[in-house]
Amino acid sequence: MTQDKLIQRALKPLVWVLCLAPLLGLTGLAYMGEMTANPIEFLNRYLGEWALKFLLSALMMTPLKIVTGWAGFTRFRRLLGLFSFFYAVLHLSSYVGLDQFFNWKDIWTDLIKRTYITVGLGAFIILAVLAATSTKNMIKKLGGKNWNRLHKWVYVAGFGGCLHFFMMRKGVQAEPLYYAGFLVLLLIYRWVYYLKKQRQRTGKTAPAAL
Ligand code: HEM
Repeated sequence: MTQDKLIQRALKPLVWVLCLAPLLGLTGLAYMGEMTANPIEFLNRYLGEWALKFLLSALMMTPLKIVTGWAGFTRFRRLLGLFSFFYAVLHLSSYVGLDQFFNWKDIWTDLIKRTYITVGLGAFIILAVLAATSTKNMIKKLGGKNWNRLHKWVYVAGFGGCLHFFMMRKGVQAEPLYYAGFLVLLLIYRWVYYLKKQRQRTGKTAPAAL
């Protein structure tokens, strides 16, 4: 086994522990009765924030690979993306079950009337599609090119998550802007890297064309 694979194998359990740590933290906070005076709101917001954190972490893996030159980072992209979906499912469930008591009429009204909920649903649907197509079998079925194209939507989900957060907090607040700023930085980095690669490619092919 190569050294790279060994490091990946050793890191995998650690990444799992890190991904489950927010749940453990939540259990601790609940046990100590530190979920504020409004525990349902606290729970819902806590889960939503972690869904977004994992989504941005998944998006960070490719830039980390480029910067460090260690390809192992991309191996954790799928796991982080799936954990983002997992926390988004818990976030949605807490909204439907604890916040709205399964009152589908009110949930429907929220979906139509409160734009930030509509945006959240949009981001959630994208995450669900990406999670459902993240298996090796689906990559084979869709074909690498189509799969890659589909999975670019993760950026739209990230943007949706940030917008949902920004709109939910009334007025301009710093926290949602930090997340959005981080996403923009990641996007700029990927764009600059793409342009650099394009230039290198055309630079290489130009003499041959002459
Ligand atoms: C159908 C899907 C969704 C629904 C119904 C929904 C609903 C909500 C609700 C009701 C709140 C709290 C509002 C309040 O306390 O006043 C909230 C906050 C939030 N949601 Fe969602 N959400 C959805 C999807 C998502 C997704 C996909 C993400 C992330 C990828 C996300 C991230 C967040 C964040 C970051 C917050 C703010 C947390 C904070 O204030 O600290 N939500 N959402």
